[in-house]
Amino acid sequence: MDSNDAINTLLNPNLSKNLEKFTWPKEENNSSNQDLNEPIIDLEGFHGGSATETARTTELVRAACLGHGLFQVINHGVDLELINSVNGQVNFFFNLPKEAKMRVHRLPGSFWGYSFAHADRFSLKLPWKEIFSCIFREDGHDSEENHFFESAFGQEFEKIRLDFQKYSHAMKKLSLTIMEILGMSLGVDKLHYKDFFEDGSSILRFNFYPPCQEPDQTLGTGPHCDPTALTILYQDQVAGLEVLADGLWKSVRPRPGALVINLGDTFSALANGVYKSCPHRAVVNKSMGRVSMVYFLLPAEEKVIKPPNNLVSSERLRQYPDFKWLDFHNFTQNHYRVDLATLQNFSKWLISHQPT
Ligand code: OGA
Ligand code: NI
Repeated sequence: MDSNDAINTLLNPNLSKNLEKFTWPKEENNSSNQDLNEPIIDLEGFHGGSATETARTTELVRAACLGHGLFQVINHGVDLELINSVNGQVNFFFNLPKEAKMRVHRLPGSFWGYSFAHADRFSLKLPWKEIFSCIFREDGHDSEENHFFESAFGQEFEKIRLDFQKYSHAMKKLSLTIMEILGMSLGVDKLHYKDFFEDGSSILRFNFYPPCQEPDQTLGTGPHCDPTALTILYQDQVAGLEVLADGLWKSVRPRPGALVINLGDTFSALANGVYKSCPHRAVVNKSMGRVSMVYFLLPAEEKVIKPPNNLVSSERLRQYPDFKWLDFHNFTQNHYRVDLATLQNFSKWLISHQPT
């Protein structure tokens, strides 16, 4: 099947041909029908500087991160109107005709643009989704930024571009707050991780999961851990995100106004594996399309990823070699399809490719 067939299957919910390319083995898509019992953390007390609230928040975050690695936050400081505005633009984009979306088709090596089902890279176990991605770097404007917004949104693009920038900024700010809490919860200096990510970049990924005739056969996003450091996800009111906890896939219920936070592989490496990255996936359903808006925090390109000394000891040796994020990213683009063991396999690959 060429990638054109994949998009036709995805965009025409009544078309049942080619579904085998989207089929996942039973053992990879069994569901428990249980909800995940993740903490819902109110950040108001932490923002207000209360010592008791800070201790409580830190304890809740630590418990979640020693377990499955996911929690939700409320009173997070991100303007709900801004979230709704970006969400409206995202819905507008996904509703455009195929030809319009293909005008901003993402090219290999680019962080910008539209893609679907990873059909340009893979031919089996395709995810049932469309995606568009952007990157916002701390050191300024990306050369592809204007082209993307103008081609995707037409005349009104300038205002829309600013909204996406603002959204990315607000998420970055929240992620630095979470980095402070994570530092405290690991017993390292509270500014250690926050400072490390201050000049880091931000990727935005917008997922649209169309309704699917055979939702039990496929997956919207296969089982994986995010290779990035920290993920902040906003989901609309249609459920679909699931986390592997105690050997079962459990649903993360959408909560109006809340943001879902999960750890990624890069943070796990920075924490010497004390905190694991969160194993998750997305399922689809028969009647409703679903949108998720995902923010990923990454370190600046020249930063070396290694844990602070106090997380390394003779009882807890280094779990992963030093690496730079871009090398990890390139591994996932050129050598490996992201799954639950990306970081382990990258570490092995890195060690076997290191000059002796
Ligand atoms: C992702 C992801 C889950 C979702 O984009 O990495 O895990 O609910 N998405 O869309
Ligand atoms: Ni993910």
